[in-house]
Amino acid sequence: MHHIRLDGLDCSVIFDCTKGKPPSLLYWGAALAEWVEGAALEKLAIRQGMHGVADISLPLSLAMEPGLGHPMLHGFAAHREGRDWGSLFEVAKVAAEGNGARIICRDERTKLGLEYAIDLDRETDVLRIGSTLTNYGDSALDLNEMPTAFLPVPAHMTHITGFTGRWTHEFGRERVKRGSGTYLRENRSGRTSHFSYPALLLSGAQASESSGEVYGLHLAWSGNHRLRVDTLTDGRVLASMGALLFPGEIRLAPGESYAAPEIVAAYSTHGFSALSRKFHAHVREKLLRPAMRAKPRPVHYNTWEAVYFDHDTGKLKEIATRAAALGVERFVLDDGWFGARRNDLAGLGDWYVSDAVYPQGLKPLVDHVTGLGMEFGIWFEPEMVNPDSDLYRAHPDWALKIEGVGQVPFRTQYVLDISRPDVAEYLFERIDAILSDHDISYIKWDMNRDLSHPGGTDGMARAAAQVRALYALLDRIRAAHPHVEIESCSSGGARADMGVLAHSDRVWTSDSNDALDRQHIQRGASFFLPPEILGCHVGPAHCHVTGRRLSMAMRAATAFSGHMGLELNLLTERETDLEQLREAIALHKAHRMLLHSGDLYRLDTARENLAFGVVARDKGEALFSIAYMTGDAHVLPGRLHFAGLDPTRNYRLRLVWPQHWAAVKAPSLIEQLHLGGKGAVFSGDALIKAGLQLPHAQPETCLLFYLAVS
Ligand code: GLA
Repeated sequence: MHHIRLDGLDCSVIFDCTKGKPPSLLYWGAALAEWVEGAALEKLAIRQGMHGVADISLPLSLAMEPGLGHPMLHGFAAHREGRDWGSLFEVAKVAAEGNGARIICRDERTKLGLEYAIDLDRETDVLRIGSTLTNYGDSALDLNEMPTAFLPVPAHMTHITGFTGRWTHEFGRERVKRGSGTYLRENRSGRTSHFSYPALLLSGAQASESSGEVYGLHLAWSGNHRLRVDTLTDGRVLASMGALLFPGEIRLAPGESYAAPEIVAAYSTHGFSALSRKFHAHVREKLLRPAMRAKPRPVHYNTWEAVYFDHDTGKLKEIATRAAALGVERFVLDDGWFGARRNDLAGLGDWYVSDAVYPQGLKPLVDHVTGLGMEFGIWFEPEMVNPDSDLYRAHPDWALKIEGVGQVPFRTQYVLDISRPDVAEYLFERIDAILSDHDISYIKWDMNRDLSHPGGTDGMARAAAQVRALYALLDRIRAAHPHVEIESCSSGGARADMGVLAHSDRVWTSDSNDALDRQHIQRGASFFLPPEILGCHVGPAHCHVTGRRLSMAMRAATAFSGHMGLELNLLTERETDLEQLREAIALHKAHRMLLHSGDLYRLDTARENLAFGVVARDKGEALFSIAYMTGDAHVLPGRLHFAGLDPTRNYRLRLVWPQHWAAVKAPSLIEQLHLGGKGAVFSGDALIKAGLQLPHAQPETCLLFYLAVS
């Protein structure tokens, strides 16, 4: 078999896997006609040698290993005591598997095996590639670098979008023009990070949310990574991703293997939103557990911004009662319930209910919450330890460190080496005990510092081992408590990748509950993650992170489309705000099945607005959100083009939020068309192509439109 051709919904992929040659990706792009063969594509790609460079055009390969002799780029890098560094892999065997293949390669000179597992899912159109290296030699192999795969993309992909950010500003996008040489993003924080979400988008200059050829790649890995796009001197362009390995971190004994994290990739001819819908389908259908997909996402109440470390059973019960009355379905007790954790200086690691704060244990609070018909959730930060804790006093050797180098101060906590079986066992036993002793159905699994010095007791780097140990611990807890849902949180959204999502059920998107910031953060996260897994909470009127004051209408509308929750003190907020919040929760519940299963369309709008819609798979209904971030540049804002509707059907259009619309200058279009009442009917075609002239609304407000086939 020379070629493997895989066809998806609207893309085709062809691998060249000629025996005795390094395997490569020959074609990845728009769906090819059935009769197009790999051999023809090979001919079309014939390149010549040139003066000043090699006499032949050097081949590309999936590993871009040193034996190819490329002057600019070596991907795979390994050696045995300085020898066997010049690998050149050759395809030995190819096995078709479903709509995918295993390409098995060997390098007899360096005694290495490299196997690629490839799958193009016919339902989601998502391409997954994993690679595994095996040491067949009789001595240890040091692996310095192994990007999972190098994927050539057409040179007319002239722009790269990377994801950047910081605490409370996750998922920022940064678009740059591709130059010559390497575009590189590296992460050594030991977690997915705030500053380098493991994903890249490639596009032409004109690509938009609804048009243009676009490629997206995501690394399903919650640790150190290297993401790159190389523009070779010969004009060819390669995108690649992989775990970033520290020196000595991966040393393979004879017979041992290293599995590189999977690249999850997609291609679209219809712009970024269509690309995102493929990633959403992947998360929904391949990563989320079926039982969690079927269950409506319960509206949360989280205690953090309401009480911080000031836990008091009486007060928490009162808050819980109020939460239940507002329609909340799950109460999550955040940091502060255990050990000596009265502030963030002490107690991490001591996962025993605090006698000082809960003299009768947690049971009275849990009973109160469940008695109100809500589920109970609880916060853990298992990978961490405060130096001021019983655990650290008993086991100082359990913390990761570089011997002889002081710890980097970071929220007064150190990282436990959870790849040690005794550490993992302790954590499992503690979490298992808390879950077994109480009626708990949700864990907020937090992780609040970088692995600045990820050295184990043996002095070896343990960053990659830590990530694998995390996945194993999550799986063990899930297996023991399958009904418990797990949220992946890391100082907000610093661990929200598809690697951890194979072992968890939702992510905490950001510690910023500021609705204006959240509009941007959630939009950024939506490039890869569907709304229902994004924790989106209504924060206090006076935002704790930014100090900004935003209306309840704006805060509720912003949390509305994700996995909605509340994170404000219900005992101190204004009654009128709480009444509005109750209405928002009821409205959310009425539409959450649509929001959490429909197709997302981000819309391109004027800078002053941010808009998106979720359209039911059968196009029978849709909900669109339009945020007015700042004042309009013109007298009135532009038109809203409702993407994704069925042009051949009629829709009744209604404004469903804010529920009490007050025009700045009446009568606005809302009154004239009775959109706040029974609504008005328009054809899908007109709504898409002509669009709705938006009414004037004040800055920092958000309108939600509901459309149903009429
Ligand atoms: C992190 C989380 C917050 C909260 C605190 C508790 O910052 O992102 O939501 O749980 O820890 O310490």
